Amino acid sequence: MTASAEKYTTQTLLDVQPLTSSLFTLRTSRDAGFRFRAGQFARLGVSKADGSIVWRAYSMVSSPFDEFLEFFSIVVPGGEFTSELSRLQVGDTLLVDRQAFGYLTLDRFVDGRDLWLLSTGTGVAPFLSILQDFEVWEKFERIILVYSVREARELAYQELIAGLTQREYLSEYAHKLQFIATVTREAHPGALHGRITTLIESGELERAAGVALSAEHSRVMLCGNPQMIDDTRALLKKRHMSLSLTRRPGQVAVENYW
Ligand SMILES: Cc1cc2nc3c(=O)[nH]c(=O)nc-3n(C[C@H](O)[C@H](O)[C@H](O)COP(=O)(O)OP(=O)(O)OC[C@H]3O[C@@H](n4cnc5c(N)ncnc54)[C@H](O)[C@@H]3O)c2cc1C
Ligand SMILES: NC(=O)c1ccc[n+]([C@@H]2O[C@H](COP(=O)([O-])OP(=O)(O)OC[C@H]3O[C@@H](n4cnc5c(N)ncnc54)[C@H](OP(=O)(O)O)[C@@H]3O)[C@@H](O)[C@H]2O)c1
Repeated sequence: MTASAEKYTTQTLLDVQPLTSSLFTLRTSRDAGFRFRAGQFARLGVSKADGSIVWRAYSMVSSPFDEFLEFFSIVVPGGEFTSELSRLQVGDTLLVDRQAFGYLTLDRFVDGRDLWLLSTGTGVAPFLSILQDFEVWEKFERIILVYSVREARELAYQELIAGLTQREYLSEYAHKLQFIATVTREAHPGALHGRITTLIESGELERAAGVALSAEHSRVMLCGNPQMIDDTRALLKKRHMSLSLTRRPGQVAVENYW
C-alpha cells in the first residue's frame, strides 16, 4: 500500500436515488474502521478520466451506528466533483478519507434546553445524522428541525424525518421533535413561506415552533448556504447568542458548505 492509499479506503456504491435533476442521495459501503460523530463530514474522492482524484467534503446523513454511509448531494452544473459523482452507478467505487472531520457536533454545547437545527438545501444532511443518533433525544427537551428549500420538490428525506419518532427506541421522545419546512419560491401546504432569516425577524419561526429563541434556552446549529449562516448569525447576535468555542461555550455552531 502506498502512503497516499493509506489515507483513504475504497468503498462501493450500494444505492443512488435521484430526487430532482440537481439533487440525489447515495449510499456506500463503510469501512469497519471508519468512525465519526453525528454531524461530522467525510472527504470523498472521485477519479477523473485523466487519472487524478478530486476530493470534496460531504456530511454523513447516516448515523454513526449504520453499517453503510449515506450522503445527500447537489449537482453543480460544470462542478468538478459533482459532475463526476453524479455519473457514478451502483457497483462503482468512491474513495473515503479514513478520518472524519468537523465540529457541528453536540459536544459543542455544554448546556441548553432547546436545540434548533437550521438548514438550507443539502445542509440538512448532518442534522439527519444527529437525529438518528440517540444522544440528542436525551440531551434536549425540544428539537426543532428547520429545512429551507427553494421549491417543495427539493425537500428530501421526508419519509425518514416523519419516521424518526416511529422508531421503537425513539417513541418515548416523539413529543420533543418539531419539523418545520420552509419553501421560499412557491407556496406549499404544510410549509412556511420565506427565508429562515425573514422568519426569525418576523417572529414567524418561533410562533410556528411554539417556543422562543433565547440565549438562555436555545442552542442553534446552522448548516448550508454561507450567506444564510452569516445573516442568521447576525440576527442571533442581536439576541446575545454567539459561536460556541472550546474556551468560551456559546449558543451557536455552524458548518458552511462553500
Ligand atoms: C464541511 C462541508 C460539508 C459539505 N457537505 C455537503 C453535503 O453533504 N452535500 C453536498 O451536496 N455538498 C456538501 N458540501 C459541498 C461539497 O463539498 C462540494 O462543494 C459540492 O460537492 C460541489 O462540488 P463541485 O466540485 O461540483 O463544485 P464546487 O466547485 O465545489 O462548488 C461550486 C459552487 O457550487 C455551489 N455549491 C457547492 N456545494 C453546494 C451545495 N451543497 N448546495 C448548494 N450549492 C452548492 C456554490 O456556489 C459553490 O461555489 C460540503 C462542503 C463542506 C465544506
Ligand atoms: N434549486 C434549484 O432549483 C436550482 C436551479 C438551478 C441552479 N441552482 C444552483 O444550485 C445552487 C444551490 O441551490 P440550492 O437551492 O440548493 O441552495 P440555495 O441557493 O442555498 O437555497 C436553499 C435555500 O436557502 C435559502 N437562502 C439562500 N440564501 C439565504 C440567505 N442569505 N438567508 C436565508 N436563506 C437563504 C434559499 O432561499 P431563496 O429561495 O430566497 O434564495 C432557499 O430556500 C445555487 O448556486 C443555484 O444557483 C439551483
